[in-house]
Amino acid sequence: MTARLEIVVLAAGQGTRMKSDLPKVLHPLAGRPLLGHVIATAGALCPARTHVVYGHGGERVLTRFPDANVLWVEQAERLGTGHAVMQAMPGVDDAAVVLVLYGDVPLVPTDLLQPLVAAATTGALAILTVELANPKGYGRILRNEQGAVLGIVEEKDASDAQRGIREGNTGILAAPAHRLRAWLAALKNSNAQGEYYLTDVVAMAVAENLPVVAHCAQDEDDVLGVNDKLQLAHLERVYQRRQAERLMREGVTLLDPARFDLRGTLECGCDVTIDVGVVIEGHVKLGDRVTVGAHCCLRDVELGAGTQLRPMSVLEEALVGPDCRIGPFARLRPGTVLAGHAHVGNFVELKNAQVGEGSKVNHLSYVGDTVMGRDVNVGAGTITCNYDGANKHRTVIGDRAFIGSDSQLVAPVEIGADATIGAGSTVTRDAPAGDLTLSRAPQKSIAGWKRPVKKPKAAG
Ligand code: UD1
Ligand code: CA
Repeated sequence: MTARLEIVVLAAGQGTRMKSDLPKVLHPLAGRPLLGHVIATAGALCPARTHVVYGHGGERVLTRFPDANVLWVEQAERLGTGHAVMQAMPGVDDAAVVLVLYGDVPLVPTDLLQPLVAAATTGALAILTVELANPKGYGRILRNEQGAVLGIVEEKDASDAQRGIREGNTGILAAPAHRLRAWLAALKNSNAQGEYYLTDVVAMAVAENLPVVAHCAQDEDDVLGVNDKLQLAHLERVYQRRQAERLMREGVTLLDPARFDLRGTLECGCDVTIDVGVVIEGHVKLGDRVTVGAHCCLRDVELGAGTQLRPMSVLEEALVGPDCRIGPFARLRPGTVLAGHAHVGNFVELKNAQVGEGSKVNHLSYVGDTVMGRDVNVGAGTITCNYDGANKHRTVIGDRAFIGSDSQLVAPVEIGADATIGAGSTVTRDAPAGDLTLSRAPQKSIAGWKRPVKKPKAAG
């Protein structure tokens, strides 16, 4: 039987220990806000509705997720986890099963949540627990001699003996909505923190002789929350390690999985090799046999089969064909499109530029707002002057043109096919196809010229 599922995500925490201006659930893990991970996990469970409880002044949280398919509920006063869930309950259907998640617990896998939902569907209260080496700060799970769950005691309310219990409460639970509604209405705040504890519903279910099911998570990292920057960094590493392991299982060679960061999605062909210190953001697609050199940064990039990206190159929103050679120290900015077999060398910046098949821009150049044909050779230090201080202009370079080193192409300008531009030229008018165009002061030599000599220093 599958009941209607409604998910409540608690995200009203201030996150004081993050020591940050940014609300805690907006801190990024692998480039995505913590809450974004949780909303995605919720979505994967296909709920009828997801409610996110945000805190007073938490409009920044709302506006960060304009497209999320969730209902936002404000908790005006932060009176405890039970109180937080209560804020969402008016919008929850009585016939539903409610699953409570936390906006600051980003890595919980759906296969830990499905059994909770299944148990709640049969009428039970289901909680997710975890065996902890150091349970400090956690609510402890109280069980009788037969092992049946009796309740949860918060650390601040626990006796010394209870603090010795190593089974901790993750906070995540599932319950039939109508029961949860009744329990929440009956919560008291007579405890050490003066809060309405969600955890108190467990003892209520036990008192009503309702089944309470506890599932124990095997991997602590799956259920860890983020309270400070150390925990955030820990979970970042956990997440990155898991992604790296998945990629290696898919056949990607990572020269050091501990020095690889994926903040988005990566699609790889066969025999892709990625060297150390590479950062990948957005959506990146690497064709067969692509090699990515050390310390490259790629965002929203596609590299064709056989392309070699050499170290220290930075690529954003670029589309690269097969068998290209890029870098070291190349920068491809948005709108760069390279056809196959193109070469882009060191200290070359391309922006909104199409580079044709087999063309080469090998050293110290800036090429922007340009359409370049095939087999063009752009000499070292060539600059397209695409900006007149107000508007951008286009440069067109025909097939097989040869641009001598240290030339400036002042746009709008067109270099014809097979044209040659003499080194050091400033090209301000179109250069005809096939011809040599150059603009340079004539060279002269002054015979017998003497270098100045240094004057002797005055004595004393
Ligand atoms: C809670 C649990 C504890 C569990 C621990 C796991 C309770 C009473 N205790 O304790 O058993 O071991 O989590 O980390 O539930 N929140 C709100 N509004 C509130 C209070 C909290 O939205 O009024 C949110 C917080 O943003 C946070 C989560 O609920 O995401 C947990 O709150 P927190 O104060 O961290 O609870 P703990 O004391 O850690
Ligand atoms: Ca906490």
